[in-house]
Formats: sequence, C-alpha cells, structure tokens
Amino acid sequence: MKRIALLAVALVMIGTAAMAGKHGELTLPDDWRKYEHIGSLVITDQTHDLYGIHHFYINDKGLKAFKKGEVYPDGTIIVDSVYKIEGSGGILNEGEIAFFPVMKKNSKMTETGGWEWGAFDPEGNSLGLDPQGCMACHEAAKDRDYVLSQPLFRHTQKK
Ligand code: HEC
Repeated sequence: MKRIALLAVALVMIGTAAMAGKHGELTLPDDWRKYEHIGSLVITDQTHDLYGIHHFYINDKGLKAFKKGEVYPDGTIIVDSVYKIEGSGGILNEGEIAFFPVMKKNSKMTETGGWEWGAFDPEGNSLGLDPQGCMACHEAAKDRDYVLSQPLFRHTQKK
C-alpha cells in the first residue's frame, strides 16, 4: 500500500515536471542587465496599459536572429524594462521601474506563436497577465516571429 502511494506521488511529480517543460515556467532572468540593448519606446499617455519608458534587451542566443530578422532559436529571451516617466517641458527621463514584460522563445508553445509571454513586477513576481493580450499587438509582426522591434541602425546600415 505504502509503495503504491509513493508511486502515485512520483508519477504526479513526473507529470508536473513534464508540464513545466511544455508550458515553461517563465521567470524574470537575473542577468537581463547584461543582455544587448536593442531599442526603446516611450508611451507618455498615463491611461495606456504600457505607459512608461521601455528599453528592450535580448540575450546572446537571439541576437543573430534579431539582426537578420529570422526565426528565433528556442531559449531566446527578450526583456522589456519599463520605467515611470520623470521630467517636464519635453525633457523626459526614467523614473522608478514599473514592470517587466518578457518573451521567451519556446517552439512548443504553438498556441501563443511559439513564445512564452509574461510580465513581472519590480520584485520579479508574475503579474499573471493573459498571453493573448500580448499577442493581440505582437501578431502584427508575425512575419518577424512576433518581434516588433527592428535593429536601431536599420535606416543607416549599408545592405
Ligand atoms: C498595445 C500593444 C502591445 C501590447 C498589448 C503588448 N505589447 Fe509588447 N510591444 C509593443 C510595442 C509597440 C513594442 C515596441 C516595438 C518597437 O519599439 O519597435 C513592444 C515590444 C515588446 C518587447 C520587445 C521585443 C519586441 O517585440 O519588440 C517585448 C519583450 C514585449 N513587447 C513583451 C510584451 C508582453 C510580454 C506583453 C504582454 C504582457 C506585451 N508585450 C504586450 C506593443 C504591445
């Protein structure tokens, strides 16, 4: 009897591990400050869900695909660090950190475009947002694997 109970516990644990593998457990990576900065965006409308100064950072794994506009390899992570806005008279600066939207490439996540989507508070706790809300905007860049940003020097770079 005891054996059966132990087996049941083991099976549940294996099941949970497999689910974690499929759905991933997206977290805010500790080392995102070491990623490459790929762009910024400012939304000054305080009523907008994405109000703030955004800086986008990508890990090494995804950098080549970003530069070439190709499909991203699994494990690519892009972090958006969003700051409240300080300043006046058209001179705006980063204030306190507001939140962190994060995308992580996981080709098994076919229902959400092959990406895991998440958003975290400044302490790294998940805000539990619905990935479909993210997709609603990012769908516009389906032909660039859902990544809206494009290389900063695209206008001046020689082909
Ligand atoms: C209202 C539309 C909108 C929604 C909703 C939205 N985003 Fe974005 N996202 C954008 C725009 C616009 C950019 C910046 C594009 C640029 O600078 O060229 C962006 C950029 C990003 C980036 C940098 C990579 C890229 O695609 O440029 C990440 C990471 C990101 N968003 C994650 C998320 C996550 C996670 C969610 C859901 C919690 C989300 N976004 C919801 C519009 C949106």
